[in-house]
Amino acid sequence: MKITVISRDERQLADLVRLLRARSSSDEIDQTIGSVARAASLLTDDTMPDVLIIDRPQSADDDLQHLERFSSQHPNIAFVALSTDQDPQFLLQAMRAGVREVLPAPVNSSALYPAIERIAEKLERRGHTSGKVLAFISCKGGSGATFLATNLAYALAASGKQKVALIDMNLQFGDASLFVSDHKPLATLSDVAQQIHRLDPSFLTSSMLTITPNYGVLAAPSDPAHANDVKPDHIDAILKLARRQYDFVVLDVGRSLDAVSIRALDHADMIFPILQTTLPYIRDSKRLLNVFRSLEYPKEKIQLIVNRHDKNSEIRLKDLESAFDAEISFTIPNNYDAAAASVNQGVPVLQLSPNAPISQSLAELARKLSGEAAPVQQGGSWLGKLKLRK
Ligand SMILES: Nc1ncnc2c1ncn2[C@@H]1O[C@H](COP(=O)(O)OP(=O)(O)O)[C@@H](O)[C@H]1O
Ligand SMILES: [Mg+2]
Repeated sequence: MKITVISRDERQLADLVRLLRARSSSDEIDQTIGSVARAASLLTDDTMPDVLIIDRPQSADDDLQHLERFSSQHPNIAFVALSTDQDPQFLLQAMRAGVREVLPAPVNSSALYPAIERIAEKLERRGHTSGKVLAFISCKGGSGATFLATNLAYALAASGKQKVALIDMNLQFGDASLFVSDHKPLATLSDVAQQIHRLDPSFLTSSMLTITPNYGVLAAPSDPAHANDVKPDHIDAILKLARRQYDFVVLDVGRSLDAVSIRALDHADMIFPILQTTLPYIRDSKRLLNVFRSLEYPKEKIQLIVNRHDKNSEIRLKDLESAFDAEISFTIPNNYDAAAASVNQGVPVLQLSPNAPISQSLAELARKLSGEAAPVQQGGSWLGKLKLRK
């Protein structure tokens, strides 16, 4: 756990840090001397703690007001206040400012440790492991990676319980937003990259095209010339933040393998190479799988999806599996009419044709992914347990 302590008093600060270090050597403890406003201005995405302990907030400096603003921007941080003042009026104000625990100051281990323990347990239950990154990659152009990524993201969000973001990583000719919306995106991935110093939860959210209240798309640059604005470091920062904000971050990686797309694939919990059952796809899929092997991605990170699957196809799934020496994780039926209508209208296929076989199949995949995501929250590996196809 990462804990930051704020105090105006150097000695108190040192005592608190010592106390926290004595509780657990695995916690990362940071300290800031001064007011809440000062501490808040110093914290960045990289230094944002899980727990913020404020020693004796002062009304003269509007500490609680600053805290209220800060806590609403960072709802995942647990705030603890140490105070000599325990009257109900103060407690109420502190609660309003987002403080979860008010402990007497100066604090001793018998008051502090159980409070930290309670917070640690809550974090554990919340599934501190954060959102999952799912990358869709096209084994060959036209295999359906964009169609499946954008529509699966819709299906994941459709339950209303999960927040989902799709990021279009096709830097030159990205088209993902057009698959699910007829609105022009106000900002793109290259705009975010160009202003990476502004990156925070509200900037990321406002750069997305809203498809439904809990599904946003970060579109690809509209001008291929802007592809070079996006660097691997930007991908690190954006995905790190997106994971904290969303339950699922779906990436449409497209086809090109370069420093930026490989960085995105490195971050992915799971990669879905999309292929079809004809020879040209099979050849390119083999090449792609070899690249993943040389990148030393674990086997279970790669989940092959056969799109436009036809049970009567000449090439059977078994043949594919032996050709690839890898399992096929999931199949999506060929459903030309529903897919074409959805793409032509820019409306998610689950919305336009909820009963179409392709929609049912995407809903099933979404169910499996979100159903299986749950056990992580109690610990254990999500990847290891996920079995998409029986
Ligand atoms: N299961 C499917 N059945 C029928 N058509 C599909 C299916 N999946 C995708 N398509 C069609 O294939 C076209 C190409 O898909 P796209 O997602 O753009 O491929 P990629 O991103 O891999 O290049 C889409 O316009 C879509 O209409
Ligand atoms: Mg595409």
